[in-house]
Amino acid sequence: MDATVYKIIHLTGIAALALGTGGMMAGAANRKPFAICQGIGLVVMLVSGFGLLAKLQLGFPHFAIVKTGLWLVIGMLPLILRRLKLPLVAAMLIPITLVAIMAWLGVMKPALW
Ligand code: HEM
Repeated sequence: MDATVYKIIHLTGIAALALGTGGMMAGAANRKPFAICQGIGLVVMLVSGFGLLAKLQLGFPHFAIVKTGLWLVIGMLPLILRRLKLPLVAAMLIPITLVAIMAWLGVMKPALW
């Protein structure tokens, strides 16, 4: 598979992750399908992300280290947000902001330290 395919998978994974995370945050009556969707989205993001690193021969640069850390945070968000009990709009802005940072890191590939 070439890098373009990994990239399309990487971007599609965001939809699965967002749908799953949103459903869990909304406390949907039937949480399980959303939890599964979130889990699949997370695995897809990680595998396609590392696939991209390999295909593009990037090694494991700074931005990828930070993305792996933020990936963990995004994975734990439903739990964290439930604990924090923030107003819903604030809680919704957190995953959107995190995805924006992840996108910036992926597109710009900044050297951070
Ligand atoms: C929830 C987690 C993640 C989100 C939301 C996310 C999002 C994105 C987005 C939007 C892009 C831009 C794609 C484009 O250029 O069109 C991108 C690129 C990229 N991501 Fe991720 N990403 C995530 C996790 C990861 C992880 C864990 C890794 C690997 C450590 C990774 C590695 C990459 C790489 C290497 C690119 C550059 C692709 C290129 O230059 O063509 N991502 N990511």
